[in-house]
Amino acid sequence: MNFWSKLIPSKERTTKYWPGLINAYRDLLDIDNKTHIISLAEGNTPLIPAPAIAQACGIIGLSVYIKFEGANPSGSFKDRGMTMAVTKAISKGLRTMVCASTGNTSASAAAYTACARANGYSDAKCIVLVPDGYIAMGKLSQAIIYGSQVVQIAGNFDQALNIVRELADKYPIALVNSVNPDRIEGQKTAAFEICDQLDGRAPDILCIPVGNAGNITAYWAGFKQYAALGLVKNQPKMMGFQAAGAAPIVLGHPVENPETIATAIRIGNPASWKMAKEAVEQSFGLIDSVTDAEIIEAYKLIHSAQGICCEPASAASVAGLIKASKQGKIERESTVVCVLTGHGLKDSQTALDVSEFKPIRTSATESAVAQALNL
Ligand code: F0G
Repeated sequence: MNFWSKLIPSKERTTKYWPGLINAYRDLLDIDNKTHIISLAEGNTPLIPAPAIAQACGIIGLSVYIKFEGANPSGSFKDRGMTMAVTKAISKGLRTMVCASTGNTSASAAAYTACARANGYSDAKCIVLVPDGYIAMGKLSQAIIYGSQVVQIAGNFDQALNIVRELADKYPIALVNSVNPDRIEGQKTAAFEICDQLDGRAPDILCIPVGNAGNITAYWAGFKQYAALGLVKNQPKMMGFQAAGAAPIVLGHPVENPETIATAIRIGNPASWKMAKEAVEQSFGLIDSVTDAEIIEAYKLIHSAQGICCEPASAASVAGLIKASKQGKIERESTVVCVLTGHGLKDSQTALDVSEFKPIRTSATESAVAQALNL
C-alpha cells in the first residue's frame, strides 16, 4: 500500500508560501486584525506516513501517520502556543516573559522573545525557570543562546511553575506557560492542520504524550472547533500517554517526585489535569502510562525503522499506541496520528546512550576501514 498516495494537499494554505499559523488560521483564532504578530513562520509541520510503526502494532489495515512537531522553528510544538502568547503579551504592553519549563517551553519562549526584539520591541526580555540538572542540553543551550535569563532551581517543574505563577501575580510580567489560554489557542492549530492534511477528515485516533496536559487540551479544542464548523464530520479518540514514573492522571493523584528518562514530561501535578480528563472522556479515548523501557524501545524504532528524529518524551505517543494495540484497544483499519512533539537533536546524549549501533574507530586507510567493516 502506498501511504503517500492517501495524502492529498487540500488547501492552498498547505502548499503556498506559509505565513505562520496565526495568519494562516486567523479566522479561527482569537486575534484581531490590528495586532502586531510575532512569528517565526511556525506550524505547517509535515504529516508523515509511518508504515514501520503500523507494522509494529500488528493491527490489520492500520494507517499510522506522524505529526512531526520537531519541524517547528525552535524544534517543538511549543512554538504554536508561543507565537500567540508572546504576540498577545506584547500587544498588552508587557515586555518581560516568564515561564517554568522542562526545556522546550523555555527554548520557545526565549526564541519568540528574541523575535519580538527583532520586530521593534527591543526591550523584550525572557526569564525561564528550569529544574537544575533535569533538562536536555540542547534545550538549555537554546534558552541561553536566544538570550533569555535562565534560572536553574533546586527543584522540579511543578515547583518552578508555582514560583512563576506567583511572580506573574506580583510583577508586570507575562506568564507564557500553557496555563495562559493564549498558548492553548495557538496549539490547537495542530489539530486543524492534521484535518487539512488528511483531506478534510480527523483521524480515528490521536496519540499524544502528556506532561502538563496543555497540548492534549489544545488538540481536543481544535478538533471540536473543526467539527463544530462542519469542516470535518468525525472526531478522534484522544489517547494520552504519561511516563510511568510521572503518571499522576493515570494514578489519580499527584506524584511528588516524578522520575522518567523522558525529562520533558517529568511532571507530577499537571496544570491542565481536569481538561485532559475531559478530552479523554468526551472523545471516548484513554489515558495510560508507558514505562521508560517502552519509551526507549519506541524511540529507537522511530529513528532506525522509520527515519524520524524525535526526543524521548515524544516517543511516548508511539509507545502508547503499540501498548494499546497489544491490549486490543485499537480497531482494524483505523487511521491513527501520533504526535512527535519535539526534535531528537535537543537530546542527542540519550540517543548516544541507548543506541545499540556504536561507532568504530580505525586508522585512516582504506584497508583499515574495510577490515574494520569485515568487507
Ligand atoms: N513532549 C515534549 C517534547 C514536551 O516538551 C512536553 C512538555 C510534552 C510532550 C507534554 O506536553 O505539557 O502540554 O502535556 N513540555 C513542557 C516544557 C512542560 O516545559 O517544555 P504538555
